[in-house]
Amino acid sequence: ARREALSIVVLGASGDLARKKTLPALFSLYYHDLLPSDFYVVGYARSNMTSEAFRNTIKSSLTCRVIEGPECARKMEHFLSRCFYVSGTYHETTAFRTLDEFLVNEFEKERWNRGVPTNRLYYLAIPSNVFAEACRGIAHAHTKPPESTKGWMRVVLEKPFGRDLDTFQTLHQELQLYISEEQTFRIDHYLGKELVQNVLALRFANYFLEPLWNNQHIQSIQVTFKENFGVEGRAGYFDQYGIIRDIMQNHLLQMVALFTMEQPASLNAEDIRDEKVKVLRSLETLRATDFVIGQYMGYREEDGVRPGSKTPTFAACRMNIRNRRWDGVPILVKAGKHLDERLAEVRVTFRSVPGSIFSLANTLPNNELVVRVQPDEAIYLRIVSKSPGLTSRLEEARLTLFYRTAWEEAHDIPDAYERLILDVIYGDKSLFIRSDELKVAWEKFTPALHELEQSDRYRPVPYVAGSRGPAEADYLAARYGCVWASDL
Ligand code: BG6
Repeated sequence: ARREALSIVVLGASGDLARKKTLPALFSLYYHDLLPSDFYVVGYARSNMTSEAFRNTIKSSLTCRVIEGPECARKMEHFLSRCFYVSGTYHETTAFRTLDEFLVNEFEKERWNRGVPTNRLYYLAIPSNVFAEACRGIAHAHTKPPESTKGWMRVVLEKPFGRDLDTFQTLHQELQLYISEEQTFRIDHYLGKELVQNVLALRFANYFLEPLWNNQHIQSIQVTFKENFGVEGRAGYFDQYGIIRDIMQNHLLQMVALFTMEQPASLNAEDIRDEKVKVLRSLETLRATDFVIGQYMGYREEDGVRPGSKTPTFAACRMNIRNRRWDGVPILVKAGKHLDERLAEVRVTFRSVPGSIFSLANTLPNNELVVRVQPDEAIYLRIVSKSPGLTSRLEEARLTLFYRTAWEEAHDIPDAYERLILDVIYGDKSLFIRSDELKVAWEKFTPALHELEQSDRYRPVPYVAGSRGPAEADYLAARYGCVWASDL
Protein backbone atom coordinates (compact mmCIF):
# COMPACT_ATOMS: atom_id res chain seq x y z
CA ALA A 1 0.00 0.00 0.00
CA ARG A 2 0.99 3.58 -0.64
CA ARG A 3 2.51 5.22 2.40
CA GLU A 4 0.13 7.84 3.66
CA ALA A 5 0.02 9.91 6.82
CA LEU A 6 -3.13 10.50 8.79
CA SER A 7 -4.01 13.36 11.10
CA ILE A 8 -7.02 12.77 13.29
CA VAL A 9 -8.47 15.99 14.64
CA VAL A 10 -10.92 15.52 17.49
CA LEU A 11 -13.08 18.61 17.98
CA GLY A 12 -14.60 18.79 21.43
CA ALA A 13 -11.61 16.85 22.72
CA SER A 14 -12.26 17.71 26.34
CA GLY A 15 -15.92 16.62 26.24
CA ASP A 16 -17.70 13.47 27.26
CA LEU A 17 -18.01 11.77 23.88
CA ALA A 18 -14.32 12.26 23.04
CA ARG A 19 -13.16 11.06 26.43
CA LYS A 20 -15.53 8.10 26.72
CA LYS A 21 -15.70 6.90 23.12
CA THR A 22 -13.57 8.54 20.45
CA LEU A 23 -10.15 8.61 22.10
CA PRO A 24 -10.42 5.15 23.71
CA ALA A 25 -11.50 3.74 20.33
CA LEU A 26 -8.53 5.37 18.62
CA PHE A 27 -6.17 3.95 21.20
CA SER A 28 -7.70 0.50 20.87
CA LEU A 29 -7.25 0.60 17.09
CA TYR A 30 -3.67 1.63 17.59
CA TYR A 31 -3.18 -1.12 20.18
CA HIS A 32 -4.41 -3.70 17.67
CA ASP A 33 -2.15 -2.25 14.95
CA LEU A 34 -5.10 -1.06 12.92
CA LEU A 35 -4.24 2.62 12.59
CA PRO A 36 -1.94 3.64 9.75
CA SER A 37 1.59 3.65 11.17
CA ASP A 38 2.13 7.33 10.44
CA PHE A 39 -0.68 8.97 12.41
CA TYR A 40 -1.14 11.65 15.02
CA VAL A 41 -4.10 12.89 17.00
CA VAL A 42 -4.82 16.53 17.60
CA GLY A 43 -7.39 17.44 20.23
CA TYR A 44 -9.15 20.75 19.73
CA ALA A 45 -11.51 22.48 22.17
CA ARG A 46 -12.13 25.78 23.86
CA SER A 47 -10.35 25.10 27.16
CA ASN A 48 -6.78 26.24 27.41
CA MET A 49 -4.48 23.29 27.86
CA THR A 50 -0.99 22.15 26.91
CA SER A 51 -0.52 18.93 24.97
CA GLU A 52 1.00 17.48 28.13
CA ALA A 53 -2.10 18.32 30.18
CA PHE A 54 -4.32 16.89 27.43
CA ARG A 55 -2.39 13.60 27.54
CA ASN A 56 -2.89 13.44 31.27
CA THR A 57 -6.62 14.01 31.04
CA ILE A 58 -7.19 11.32 28.43
CA LYS A 59 -4.84 8.74 29.88
CA SER A 60 -7.31 7.59 32.53
CA SER A 61 -9.94 6.78 29.89
CA LEU A 62 -7.71 4.53 27.78
CA THR A 63 -7.75 0.79 28.43
CA CYS A 64 -6.37 -2.30 26.76
CA ARG A 65 -9.66 -4.17 27.35
CA VAL A 66 -8.40 -7.69 27.96
CA ILE A 67 -4.67 -7.58 28.34
CA GLU A 68 -3.46 -4.98 30.80
CA GLY A 69 0.26 -5.23 31.47
CA PRO A 70 3.67 -3.89 30.46
CA GLU A 71 2.85 -4.17 26.75
CA CYS A 72 -0.32 -2.16 27.29
CA ALA A 73 1.49 0.52 29.29
CA ARG A 74 4.21 0.79 26.65
CA LYS A 75 1.74 1.15 23.81
CA MET A 76 -0.28 3.66 25.79
CA GLU A 77 2.76 5.87 26.29
CA HIS A 78 3.56 5.62 22.62
CA PHE A 79 0.02 6.50 21.63
CA LEU A 80 -0.06 9.45 24.02
CA SER A 81 3.22 10.76 22.64
CA ARG A 82 1.38 11.18 19.33
CA CYS A 83 -1.45 13.18 20.87
CA PHE A 84 -1.37 16.97 20.76
CA TYR A 85 -3.69 19.76 21.73
CA VAL A 86 -4.70 23.07 20.21
CA SER A 87 -7.26 25.34 21.84
CA GLY A 88 -9.75 27.49 19.98
CA THR A 89 -13.37 28.44 19.49
CA TYR A 90 -15.75 26.98 16.92
CA HIS A 91 -16.99 30.22 15.41
CA GLU A 92 -13.75 31.97 14.46
CA THR A 93 -11.95 31.19 11.25
CA THR A 94 -8.75 32.56 12.80
CA ALA A 95 -8.91 29.84 15.46
CA PHE A 96 -9.20 27.18 12.73
CA ARG A 97 -6.28 28.82 10.94
CA THR A 98 -4.17 28.27 14.04
CA LEU A 99 -5.26 24.63 14.04
CA ASP A 100 -4.53 24.29 10.34
CA GLU A 101 -1.10 25.87 10.69
CA PHE A 102 -0.31 23.53 13.53
CA LEU A 103 -1.18 20.53 11.34
CA VAL A 104 0.76 21.85 8.37
CA ASN A 105 3.85 23.04 10.21
CA GLU A 106 4.19 20.26 12.74
CA PHE A 107 3.43 17.32 10.50
CA GLU A 108 2.21 17.71 7.01
CA LYS A 109 4.69 20.01 5.29
CA GLU A 110 7.60 17.76 6.09
CA ARG A 111 5.70 14.78 4.65
CA TRP A 112 4.73 16.69 1.52
CA ASN A 113 8.41 17.40 0.99
CA ARG A 114 9.04 13.66 1.08
CA GLY A 115 6.15 13.06 -1.34
CA VAL A 116 3.94 11.43 1.29
CA PRO A 117 0.21 12.18 0.91
CA THR A 118 -1.54 13.40 4.04
CA ASN A 119 -5.12 12.56 4.99
CA ARG A 120 -7.25 14.34 7.52
CA LEU A 121 -10.05 12.96 9.60
CA TYR A 122 -12.08 15.51 11.57
CA TYR A 123 -14.13 13.96 14.33
CA LEU A 124 -16.82 16.38 15.53
CA ALA A 125 -17.42 15.38 19.15
CA ILE A 126 -19.21 18.70 19.70
CA PRO A 127 -22.85 19.77 20.21
CA SER A 128 -24.75 19.87 16.94
CA ASN A 129 -25.55 23.57 17.26
CA VAL A 130 -21.90 24.28 16.43
CA PHE A 131 -21.57 21.71 13.59
CA ALA A 132 -22.10 24.31 10.89
CA GLU A 133 -19.68 26.90 12.20
CA ALA A 134 -17.05 24.24 12.87
CA CYS A 135 -17.38 22.94 9.30
CA ARG A 136 -17.14 26.47 7.98
CA GLY A 137 -13.96 26.99 9.99
CA ILE A 138 -12.49 23.72 8.75
CA ALA A 139 -13.33 24.48 5.13
CA HIS A 140 -12.18 28.11 5.16
CA ALA A 141 -8.91 27.54 6.98
CA HIS A 142 -7.86 24.50 4.98
CA THR A 143 -4.38 24.84 3.43
CA LYS A 144 -4.28 22.92 0.19
CA PRO A 145 -1.40 20.46 -0.06
CA PRO A 146 0.48 20.18 -3.36
CA GLU A 147 -1.59 18.15 -5.87
CA SER A 148 0.91 15.25 -5.85
CA THR A 149 0.61 14.68 -2.11
CA LYS A 150 -3.07 15.42 -1.77
CA GLY A 151 -4.96 13.01 0.46
CA TRP A 152 -8.58 12.81 1.56
CA MET A 153 -10.45 14.92 4.09
CA ARG A 154 -13.36 13.32 5.94
CA VAL A 155 -15.69 14.65 8.61
CA VAL A 156 -17.41 12.46 11.19
CA LEU A 157 -20.62 13.71 12.80
CA GLU A 158 -23.09 12.21 15.19
CA LYS A 159 -26.72 12.94 16.08
CA PRO A 160 -28.67 15.03 16.87
CA PHE A 161 -29.06 16.05 13.24
CA GLY A 162 -31.77 18.61 13.93
CA ARG A 163 -34.91 18.01 15.93
CA ASP A 164 -37.44 17.59 13.13
CA LEU A 165 -37.64 17.59 9.36
CA ASP A 166 -37.24 21.36 8.99
CA THR A 167 -34.33 21.83 11.35
CA PHE A 168 -32.62 18.79 9.82
CA GLN A 169 -32.94 20.29 6.34
CA THR A 170 -31.62 23.66 7.45
CA LEU A 171 -28.63 22.04 9.11
CA HIS A 172 -28.03 19.81 6.12
CA GLN A 173 -28.09 22.70 3.65
CA GLU A 174 -25.71 24.68 5.80
CA LEU A 175 -23.26 21.82 6.13
CA GLN A 176 -23.40 21.18 2.41
CA LEU A 177 -21.88 24.60 1.84
CA TYR A 178 -18.69 23.40 3.47
CA ILE A 179 -18.44 19.64 3.17
CA SER A 180 -19.68 17.31 0.47
CA GLU A 181 -21.83 14.22 1.03
CA GLU A 182 -18.80 12.17 0.02
CA GLN A 183 -16.74 13.67 2.83
CA THR A 184 -19.52 13.29 5.39
CA PHE A 185 -19.65 10.26 7.69
CA ARG A 186 -22.79 10.28 9.87
CA ILE A 187 -22.48 7.89 12.75
CA ASP A 188 -25.25 5.84 14.25
CA HIS A 189 -23.20 3.83 16.66
CA TYR A 190 -25.76 1.02 16.80
CA LEU A 191 -24.71 0.09 13.27
CA GLY A 192 -21.21 -0.56 14.60
CA LYS A 193 -22.41 -3.08 17.17
CA GLU A 194 -21.37 -6.65 16.47
CA LEU A 195 -24.86 -8.13 16.45
CA VAL A 196 -26.34 -5.38 14.36
CA GLN A 197 -23.62 -5.94 11.80
CA ASN A 198 -24.56 -9.59 11.77
CA VAL A 199 -28.17 -8.99 10.71
CA LEU A 200 -27.39 -8.94 6.99
CA ALA A 201 -25.41 -12.16 7.27
CA LEU A 202 -28.09 -13.83 9.33
CA ARG A 203 -30.79 -12.90 6.84
CA PHE A 204 -29.01 -13.16 3.52
CA ALA A 205 -26.26 -15.75 4.00
CA ASN A 206 -28.66 -18.33 5.42
CA TYR A 207 -31.36 -20.24 3.61
CA PHE A 208 -33.94 -21.06 6.21
CA LEU A 209 -35.21 -17.63 7.21
CA GLU A 210 -36.01 -15.97 3.91
CA PRO A 211 -39.05 -18.09 2.90
CA LEU A 212 -40.64 -17.33 6.28
CA TRP A 213 -39.66 -13.69 6.40
CA ASN A 214 -42.99 -12.04 5.64
CA ASN A 215 -46.49 -11.33 6.91
CA GLN A 216 -47.69 -14.84 6.05
CA HIS A 217 -45.45 -16.34 8.72
CA ILE A 218 -44.38 -13.61 11.06
CA GLN A 219 -46.84 -12.44 13.66
CA SER A 220 -44.94 -9.49 15.09
CA ILE A 221 -41.55 -7.89 15.52
CA GLN A 222 -40.45 -6.29 18.77
CA VAL A 223 -37.52 -3.94 19.08
CA THR A 224 -36.58 -3.14 22.65
CA PHE A 225 -34.07 -0.76 24.16
CA LYS A 226 -33.95 -0.47 27.93
CA GLU A 227 -31.48 1.16 30.25
CA ASN A 228 -31.44 0.69 34.00
CA PHE A 229 -30.11 4.18 34.63
CA GLY A 230 -31.32 7.72 34.03
CA VAL A 231 -29.91 10.64 32.07
CA GLU A 232 -26.62 10.61 33.99
CA GLY A 233 -25.38 14.18 33.79
CA ARG A 234 -26.63 14.60 30.20
CA ALA A 235 -29.95 16.15 31.16
CA GLY A 236 -29.09 19.45 29.45
CA TYR A 237 -28.95 17.64 26.11
CA PHE A 238 -31.57 15.01 26.80
CA ASP A 239 -34.28 17.37 27.99
CA GLN A 240 -34.13 19.19 24.65
CA TYR A 241 -34.54 16.01 22.64
CA GLY A 242 -36.25 13.21 24.57
CA ILE A 243 -36.12 9.47 24.09
CA ILE A 244 -37.85 9.38 20.69
CA ARG A 245 -35.13 11.51 19.08
CA ASP A 246 -32.36 10.10 21.26
CA ILE A 247 -32.96 6.42 20.54
CA MET A 248 -35.96 5.61 18.35
CA GLN A 249 -35.66 7.80 15.30
CA ASN A 250 -32.08 6.60 14.82
CA HIS A 251 -30.79 3.48 16.61
CA LEU A 252 -34.06 1.54 16.71
CA LEU A 253 -35.30 2.66 13.32
CA GLN A 254 -31.99 1.49 11.83
CA MET A 255 -32.52 -1.92 13.36
CA VAL A 256 -36.07 -2.04 12.00
CA ALA A 257 -34.70 -1.19 8.55
CA LEU A 258 -32.05 -3.93 8.65
CA PHE A 259 -34.58 -6.54 9.72
CA THR A 260 -37.18 -5.60 7.12
CA MET A 261 -35.30 -4.38 4.03
CA GLU A 262 -35.05 -6.41 0.84
CA GLN A 263 -31.78 -8.06 -0.13
CA PRO A 264 -29.46 -5.37 -1.48
CA ALA A 265 -27.97 -5.81 -4.94
CA SER A 266 -24.54 -6.15 -3.32
CA LEU A 267 -22.72 -5.37 -0.11
CA ASN A 268 -21.69 -2.07 -1.59
CA ALA A 269 -22.58 0.84 0.72
CA GLU A 270 -24.88 2.51 -1.81
CA ASP A 271 -26.80 -0.70 -2.47
CA ILE A 272 -27.33 -1.34 1.23
CA ARG A 273 -28.43 2.21 1.89
CA ASP A 274 -30.74 2.21 -1.15
CA GLU A 275 -32.64 -0.73 0.34
CA LYS A 276 -32.83 0.87 3.77
CA VAL A 277 -34.23 4.07 2.31
CA LYS A 278 -36.73 2.10 0.27
CA VAL A 279 -38.18 0.18 3.18
CA LEU A 280 -38.25 3.30 5.36
CA ARG A 281 -40.26 5.05 2.70
CA SER A 282 -42.87 2.30 2.97
CA LEU A 283 -43.18 2.89 6.69
CA GLU A 284 -46.51 4.50 7.57
CA THR A 285 -45.95 7.98 8.95
CA LEU A 286 -46.23 7.84 12.72
CA ARG A 287 -48.89 9.77 14.59
CA ALA A 288 -49.14 10.66 18.27
CA THR A 289 -51.84 8.02 18.70
CA ASP A 290 -49.32 5.31 17.75
CA PHE A 291 -47.32 6.17 20.89
CA VAL A 292 -47.32 5.75 24.62
CA ILE A 293 -44.89 8.11 26.33
CA GLY A 294 -43.63 8.09 29.89
CA GLN A 295 -41.29 9.93 32.21
CA TYR A 296 -39.55 8.44 35.23
CA MET A 297 -40.36 9.97 38.56
CA GLY A 298 -37.57 12.19 39.75
CA TYR A 299 -36.57 13.16 36.20
CA ARG A 300 -37.77 16.75 36.70
CA GLU A 301 -35.54 17.13 39.73
CA GLU A 302 -32.40 16.26 37.75
CA ASP A 303 -29.89 19.02 37.16
CA GLY A 304 -30.47 20.58 33.75
CA VAL A 305 -34.10 19.50 33.31
CA ARG A 306 -36.54 22.35 32.77
CA PRO A 307 -39.18 22.73 35.49
CA GLY A 308 -42.38 20.97 34.50
CA SER A 309 -40.61 19.32 31.55
CA LYS A 310 -42.82 17.14 29.32
CA THR A 311 -39.83 15.40 27.76
CA PRO A 312 -40.43 11.65 27.53
CA THR A 313 -37.80 9.30 28.96
CA PHE A 314 -39.85 6.34 27.76
CA ALA A 315 -41.72 5.70 24.54
CA ALA A 316 -43.41 2.74 22.95
CA CYS A 317 -45.00 2.72 19.53
CA ARG A 318 -46.40 0.56 16.83
CA MET A 319 -45.11 0.82 13.29
CA ASN A 320 -46.50 -0.64 10.10
CA ILE A 321 -44.60 -1.12 6.88
CA ARG A 322 -47.00 -0.83 4.02
CA ASN A 323 -45.56 -3.16 1.46
CA ARG A 324 -46.31 -6.67 0.19
CA ARG A 325 -43.91 -8.28 2.60
CA TRP A 326 -44.87 -6.59 5.84
CA ASP A 327 -48.24 -4.91 5.79
CA GLY A 328 -50.20 -5.91 8.90
CA VAL A 329 -47.25 -7.16 10.93
CA PRO A 330 -47.13 -5.02 14.07
CA ILE A 331 -43.65 -3.71 14.64
CA LEU A 332 -43.54 -2.77 18.29
CA VAL A 333 -40.73 -0.50 19.31
CA LYS A 334 -39.93 0.50 22.86
CA ALA A 335 -37.18 2.58 24.42
CA GLY A 336 -36.77 3.78 27.95
CA LYS A 337 -34.38 5.07 30.57
CA HIS A 338 -34.41 4.05 34.21
CA LEU A 339 -36.21 0.77 33.63
CA ASP A 340 -35.72 -2.59 35.33
CA GLU A 341 -32.81 -3.84 33.19
CA ARG A 342 -30.34 -2.96 30.47
CA LEU A 343 -31.24 -4.68 27.24
CA ALA A 344 -31.26 -4.10 23.50
CA GLU A 345 -32.80 -6.78 21.32
CA VAL A 346 -34.99 -7.61 18.38
CA ARG A 347 -37.53 -10.38 18.67
CA VAL A 348 -39.24 -11.85 15.64
CA THR A 349 -42.31 -13.87 16.61
CA PHE A 350 -43.67 -16.40 14.15
CA ARG A 351 -47.33 -17.32 13.87
CA SER A 352 -48.83 -20.19 15.84
CA VAL A 353 -48.95 -23.61 14.22
CA PRO A 354 -52.23 -24.04 12.36
CA GLY A 355 -54.16 -27.25 13.05
CA SER A 356 -51.81 -28.32 15.80
CA ILE A 357 -52.17 -31.92 16.97
CA PHE A 358 -50.69 -31.07 20.34
CA SER A 359 -53.38 -30.06 22.74
CA LEU A 360 -50.93 -28.12 24.87
CA ALA A 361 -49.57 -26.24 21.91
CA ASN A 362 -51.76 -23.23 22.57
CA THR A 363 -50.16 -22.57 25.90
CA LEU A 364 -46.63 -22.92 24.57
CA PRO A 365 -44.93 -19.93 23.05
CA ASN A 366 -44.77 -19.38 19.33
CA ASN A 367 -41.40 -19.80 17.70
CA GLU A 368 -39.27 -16.75 18.15
CA LEU A 369 -35.97 -15.63 16.74
CA VAL A 370 -34.20 -13.33 19.16
CA VAL A 371 -31.18 -11.21 18.36
CA ARG A 372 -29.84 -9.85 21.60
CA VAL A 373 -27.58 -6.94 20.83
CA GLN A 374 -26.57 -6.41 24.45
CA PRO A 375 -25.71 -7.35 27.07
CA ASP A 376 -24.36 -10.88 26.57
CA GLU A 377 -24.64 -10.98 22.78
CA ALA A 378 -26.71 -13.87 21.52
CA ILE A 379 -28.92 -15.15 18.74
CA TYR A 380 -31.44 -17.79 19.69
CA LEU A 381 -34.50 -19.54 18.41
CA ARG A 382 -37.25 -20.47 20.81
CA ILE A 383 -38.75 -23.78 19.78
CA VAL A 384 -41.14 -26.34 21.22
CA SER A 385 -39.62 -29.70 22.08
CA LYS A 386 -40.67 -32.92 23.75
CA SER A 387 -39.09 -33.12 27.16
CA PRO A 388 -36.80 -36.14 27.44
CA GLY A 389 -37.85 -39.42 29.08
CA LEU A 390 -41.01 -41.44 29.37
CA THR A 391 -43.26 -38.50 28.96
CA SER A 392 -44.95 -36.75 26.14
CA ARG A 393 -44.77 -33.37 27.74
CA LEU A 394 -43.83 -30.48 25.53
CA GLU A 395 -41.62 -27.68 26.67
CA GLU A 396 -40.12 -24.57 25.34
CA ALA A 397 -36.46 -25.08 24.41
CA ARG A 398 -33.83 -22.95 22.76
CA LEU A 399 -31.35 -23.30 19.98
CA THR A 400 -28.78 -20.81 21.06
CA LEU A 401 -25.75 -19.06 19.81
CA PHE A 402 -24.22 -17.37 22.80
CA TYR A 403 -21.30 -15.35 21.57
CA ARG A 404 -19.42 -15.67 24.84
CA THR A 405 -19.23 -19.45 24.67
CA ALA A 406 -19.26 -19.91 20.90
CA TRP A 407 -16.25 -17.81 20.01
CA GLU A 408 -12.93 -17.15 21.61
CA GLU A 409 -12.99 -13.69 19.96
CA ALA A 410 -16.25 -12.82 21.71
CA HIS A 411 -14.29 -12.03 24.83
CA ASP A 412 -12.85 -9.09 23.01
CA ILE A 413 -15.68 -7.66 20.92
CA PRO A 414 -14.56 -4.21 19.78
CA ASP A 415 -16.56 -1.20 20.77
CA ALA A 416 -18.87 0.07 18.00
CA TYR A 417 -16.77 3.22 17.64
CA GLU A 418 -13.67 1.20 16.77
CA ARG A 419 -15.36 -0.46 13.84
CA LEU A 420 -16.83 2.84 12.68
CA ILE A 421 -13.62 4.87 12.89
CA LEU A 422 -11.79 2.11 11.05
CA ASP A 423 -14.42 2.28 8.30
CA VAL A 424 -13.97 6.05 8.04
CA ILE A 425 -10.24 5.52 7.51
CA TYR A 426 -10.95 2.92 4.81
CA GLY A 427 -13.69 5.06 3.31
CA ASP A 428 -16.35 2.36 3.69
CA LYS A 429 -19.75 3.92 4.17
CA SER A 430 -21.99 0.88 4.60
CA LEU A 431 -22.40 1.57 8.31
CA PHE A 432 -22.98 5.31 7.96
CA ILE A 433 -26.24 7.15 7.45
CA ARG A 434 -26.85 8.75 4.08
CA SER A 435 -28.66 12.10 3.99
CA ASP A 436 -31.76 10.75 2.20
CA GLU A 437 -32.04 8.05 4.84
CA LEU A 438 -32.02 10.66 7.57
CA LYS A 439 -34.55 12.74 5.71
CA VAL A 440 -37.02 9.90 5.43
CA ALA A 441 -36.49 9.04 9.11
CA TRP A 442 -37.45 12.61 10.03
CA GLU A 443 -40.41 12.57 7.64
CA LYS A 444 -41.84 9.54 9.39
CA PHE A 445 -41.33 10.86 12.93
CA THR A 446 -41.93 14.60 12.67
CA PRO A 447 -45.78 14.66 12.66
CA ALA A 448 -45.95 12.50 15.79
CA LEU A 449 -43.24 14.51 17.54
CA HIS A 450 -45.06 17.76 16.82
CA GLU A 451 -48.42 16.41 17.95
CA LEU A 452 -46.96 14.99 21.14
CA GLU A 453 -45.23 18.24 21.94
CA GLN A 454 -47.81 20.76 20.86
CA SER A 455 -50.99 19.31 22.23
CA ASP A 456 -51.83 19.20 25.91
CA ARG A 457 -53.66 15.95 25.27
CA TYR A 458 -50.37 14.10 25.41
CA ARG A 459 -48.50 14.06 28.66
CA PRO A 460 -45.89 11.48 29.60
CA VAL A 461 -47.19 8.89 32.05
CA PRO A 462 -45.07 8.93 35.23
CA TYR A 463 -43.36 5.64 36.08
CA VAL A 464 -41.26 4.48 38.99
CA ALA A 465 -37.54 4.48 38.26
CA GLY A 466 -36.37 0.86 38.02
CA SER A 467 -39.81 -0.43 36.98
CA ARG A 468 -41.00 -1.94 33.68
CA GLY A 469 -42.31 1.45 32.62
CA PRO A 470 -45.94 2.57 32.18
CA ALA A 471 -48.59 -0.15 32.00
CA GLU A 472 -50.05 1.76 29.03
CA ALA A 473 -47.24 0.26 26.94
CA ASP A 474 -48.60 -3.19 27.75
CA TYR A 475 -52.08 -2.14 26.63
CA LEU A 476 -50.58 -0.81 23.42
CA ALA A 477 -48.93 -4.19 22.75
CA ALA A 478 -52.14 -6.00 23.73
CA ARG A 479 -54.06 -4.03 21.10
CA TYR A 480 -51.93 -5.86 18.56
CA GLY A 481 -52.15 -9.23 20.30
CA CYS A 482 -48.62 -8.96 21.70
CA VAL A 483 -46.86 -9.04 25.03
CA TRP A 484 -43.51 -7.34 25.58
CA ALA A 485 -41.07 -10.13 26.29
CA SER A 486 -37.64 -10.40 27.83
CA ASP A 487 -35.62 -13.47 28.75
CA LEU A 488 -32.79 -11.97 30.75
C1 BG6 B 1 -26.76 7.23 22.74
C2 BG6 B 1 -27.81 7.97 23.52
O1 BG6 B 1 -26.89 7.46 21.39
O2 BG6 B 1 -26.89 5.85 23.01
C3 BG6 B 1 -27.75 7.65 25.00
O3 BG6 B 1 -27.64 9.36 23.32
C4 BG6 B 1 -27.75 6.17 25.23
O4 BG6 B 1 -28.83 8.26 25.68
C5 BG6 B 1 -26.73 5.48 24.35
O5 BG6 B 1 -27.47 5.94 26.60
C6 BG6 B 1 -26.84 3.98 24.45
O6 BG6 B 1 -25.77 3.40 23.77
P1 BG6 B 1 -25.20 2.01 24.22
O7 BG6 B 1 -24.15 1.73 23.21
O8 BG6 B 1 -24.69 2.16 25.61
O9 BG6 B 1 -26.36 1.07 24.16
